[in-house]
Amino acid sequence: MTEAFEADWHPIDEFHRDFAPPCDACSWRRRCRGVYRSYLARRGHAELKPRIEAVSNSFNLTPAAEPEVFDLRRCPIRQGLQPTVDPVRELLTPVQRGLAQRHRVVGEDFSDHSLSQARETGRLMLDLSGGGFLEDLAQEVRPLLQAKTCRRCSLAPLCGGLWKPGPRDGFGRAKSLLAERLAGLRGRVLDVGCGGLPYLEAIRPGLEAGELSWLGLEPAQVTAVNLPNLRLVASSLEDFEPDPADLPFDAICLLRSINHLAEPDLGLARLFAWLRPGGRLLLADDACFGVLRTAAGMTALKERKAPAYEHHHCLELDEARRLALAVGLAEREAVDHRETASSMWILDLLRPD
Ligand SMILES: C[S@@+](CC[C@H](N)C(=O)[O-])C[C@H]1O[C@@H](n2cnc3c(N)ncnc32)[C@H](O)[C@@H]1O
Ligand code: SF4
Repeated sequence: MTEAFEADWHPIDEFHRDFAPPCDACSWRRRCRGVYRSYLARRGHAELKPRIEAVSNSFNLTPAAEPEVFDLRRCPIRQGLQPTVDPVRELLTPVQRGLAQRHRVVGEDFSDHSLSQARETGRLMLDLSGGGFLEDLAQEVRPLLQAKTCRRCSLAPLCGGLWKPGPRDGFGRAKSLLAERLAGLRGRVLDVGCGGLPYLEAIRPGLEAGELSWLGLEPAQVTAVNLPNLRLVASSLEDFEPDPADLPFDAICLLRSINHLAEPDLGLARLFAWLRPGGRLLLADDACFGVLRTAAGMTALKERKAPAYEHHHCLELDEARRLALAVGLAEREAVDHRETASSMWILDLLRPD
């Protein structure tokens, strides 16, 4: 990925690069610009070894300069009076009548392609927490929407345009789409990386009716929940050996935890082996997203002691799908960002009979 004479990483996007199957399980997938197509054509992808390390799952956009004079009805950028807004790394937000603030992406953890993908699929958010480490996205962010005038503007391919906070509660919708699918599960279910079981209400009726037996797997410390047919085991997926009496599972959930696995391909292969033929694997996670912060919010964030990155990947829906199909799973349903109106995607998969 680096020219022979270069001693370091030079993040320059070039369009004659591509990705290959091993890239889906590589932690650098979001920042990497890919492999030269000529290399893949000559040598194939057998030599590509995924790099595994903890990575960020989001990027920040912060004020790039002082607010600038701006009126969308008589856009000074369209008139050539002010420089355009970089269409990948920058955007404007309204400050007050006649003024807008230019924001720019901080850092080099994400390639231009990853940044554009996040922008084009509605994954730019306004921070409402005032500079927190975001934990409950439904409460702490509001999606940003590009102004209609900018979407229709002939300069749009060259200009990032003006963005305003949208009214929708995307993450609330994502949660309810997931809860609907969880409420339909029956039989023996393994929940990998179950955390504090935030969707307990969706599965409670099945547990109480004795139609559902839930085994939660969680390496971190969580509060015990006292409900019939619910067991929690303190373990990572990698260290877990299921009790033969529990096998096979009718369904397995991997909810917002696949990105935490160092080797998601190996993890999915293990889960496949524990599913009964016809059993379901419910997979959901957040793809990378951008957070627009104020200068004060960014300072507050920097002053906090940052926890170590918890994610090893930041899979897009199509990458997760390829990993799942590669171990033999089949797709029942896919719910993408446009449907969840958030950064979350959902894949409902099946072990074929
Ligand atoms: C973002 S939380 C998701 C929790 C819950 N499933 C949800 O949907 O809200 C990710 C969880 O995966 C767990 N986790 C991290 N590494 C794991 C591993 N190797 N095996 C199983 N779980 C893991 C974390 O401890 C954490 O509770
Ligand atoms: S995209 Fe928006 S901000 Fe950019 S030139 Fe067009 S109207 Fe102006």
